[in-house]
Amino acid sequence: MKQTVPLIVGNWKMNPVTMADAVALSIAIARKQKTALEPQVVIAPSFPHLSEVGKKIKKSTVALAAQDVYTQPLGPFTGEVSITQLKDLGVQYVIVGHSERRALGETDELVCEKVQVILKHQLIPIVCIGERERDEQANFFTLIEDQLRSLAEVLPAAAIKKVVVAYEPIWAIGTGNTATVEDVKEMQLFIETVLTKLYDRSTARKVRLLYGGSVKPENAALLHQEGDMEGFLVGGASLKAEDFAAIIKAVS
Ligand code: 13P
Repeated sequence: MKQTVPLIVGNWKMNPVTMADAVALSIAIARKQKTALEPQVVIAPSFPHLSEVGKKIKKSTVALAAQDVYTQPLGPFTGEVSITQLKDLGVQYVIVGHSERRALGETDELVCEKVQVILKHQLIPIVCIGERERDEQANFFTLIEDQLRSLAEVLPAAAIKKVVVAYEPIWAIGTGNTATVEDVKEMQLFIETVLTKLYDRSTARKVRLLYGGSVKPENAALLHQEGDMEGFLVGGASLKAEDFAAIIKAVS
């Protein structure tokens, strides 16, 4: 396993409904994490909650992430949120290309544009990749390779090293159908091999890899120890401070 600080990211998606609940959850998470620097814990509330949650976690070691960003830093784009606005709120990480956004029409090209604007403003992109289903012929590996290649077409080695790649097989998201340790390990090796081909080995080793898809307190330790990724992107289990803390503990 690589000797990097593990990264645990809680993607709250469109939850919770109220600001009060978002603030309470962030306080509970920050309190449990205390001043621990390892693993690096990141929470990604929805846009309306970013500002208040950001204030509550400011003095903790928990970092703030956004769930998306627009490609343009400024201008007349109704309904969009810019990287400059996110940066002003203290956001450090931005999730891009989540399968739930790709399902709404986000393409690899758009994901790449977003990654470039995020890097240009010195924030850290967490790029989600993953297959909808696994076929007998293992064609899903080609899709993963294509998603990585589209990044390599626009990002030089110095830039890709700053990207976090989250492997989130769509069939594992919100289904309770977690990928096996073998699946995760195999994908870690595959992604590293593809990145080595697209860049070089030393660059490939520097790209941080996360796994996401039904990560729970019960499976986190084994997935972390034997899956060889450097952390998790957690959905449902990040909405309960106790469960999220247990996942954090499992990689500590
Ligand atoms: P679940 O952990 O709820 O499966 O969600 C994973 C996810 O989509 C995180 O981005």
